[in-house]
Amino acid sequence: MTTKMNVGIAFIEQKRLLIDHLLDKYLPAIDIYPNILHEAMRYSVLAGGKRIRPILALTTYELFGGKDENKINLAAVALEFVHTYSLIHDDLPCMDDDDLRRGMPTLHKKYDEATAVLAGDALHDLAFSLISQTGSAETVRELADAIGTFGMIGGQVADVEAEGKHIELQQVLYIHSHKTGALIRACIRIGAILAGIEGPVYDRLSLYGEKIGLAFQIIDDILDIKGDQKKLGKMVGSDCKNKKATYPGITGLKQAQEDADKLIDEAVAIAEEFGFADNHLKTIAYYIGQREY
Ligand code: IPE
Ligand code: IPE
Ligand code: MG
Ligand code: MG
Ligand code: MG
Repeated sequence: MTTKMNVGIAFIEQKRLLIDHLLDKYLPAIDIYPNILHEAMRYSVLAGGKRIRPILALTTYELFGGKDENKINLAAVALEFVHTYSLIHDDLPCMDDDDLRRGMPTLHKKYDEATAVLAGDALHDLAFSLISQTGSAETVRELADAIGTFGMIGGQVADVEAEGKHIELQQVLYIHSHKTGALIRACIRIGAILAGIEGPVYDRLSLYGEKIGLAFQIIDDILDIKGDQKKLGKMVGSDCKNKKATYPGITGLKQAQEDADKLIDEAVAIAEEFGFADNHLKTIAYYIGQREY
């Protein structure tokens, strides 16, 4: 597995460089009015980040034979813009009130709250403009549904509602699979839709997405407790400060880690069903399971 991981990291790094280049290309230039907004959008998007969502979309598309680079690039950029918008709003004083993101001051700290709200909105809107240019209404709908009331926003509302309360495991599963899992699953689905995948394979890919999406947020909660702030680029202990309902808060750290590992193993097993020799979805599942930031 060690060798596989090394190969995997190189492949992920290579994709990340491509995504970074594309994000820069599709962001509005700072010398265009309203300059302050474009500066703010660029600040948050180009601050760094793992780019795991666009990488998932690109990888799925390529593995399943997609050949139209322009289409998948538009979708990949849209997914990262939506994700960054969600982070900007998540960090606001009325939400998680965090000061550090991607190793830099959060957008409302660097500028002000109004700019942060509006830059988030603008990234969201630009994302829909870009994904609509794929010509696939189905991907637009998938993205909209994944981040709306039955997806990410539903999860964020439940997350805020649960602050300071004792909740059951079932509720934390709702929060995590919605606030984080839905967008991650959408990345896989959008890659699959654009590659023309449907039927049982699409369903298995969706399930793979659900597993890594849930594991991703459980690990995020674990890292909030025992991660290295320098590596993470965000404040450790934010969940405790906000009295968040977290997965390890309910199960304990050990069980949380075991559950995340199990989800990763299940995702790997699904990836293996597809029978690719060079199975990058398997590598990404391992990468998510072992991430330290
Ligand atoms: C952080 O996402 C927010 C969650 C949904 C857990 P990432 O851990 O993917 O953050 P970046 O994009 O790498 O900064
Ligand atoms: C964030 O969950 C989920 C979304 C942004 C939709 P968290 O609040 O745990 O993410 P971090 O820890 O701030 O990155
Ligand atoms: Mg939050
Ligand atoms: Mg947060
Ligand atoms: Mg977190």
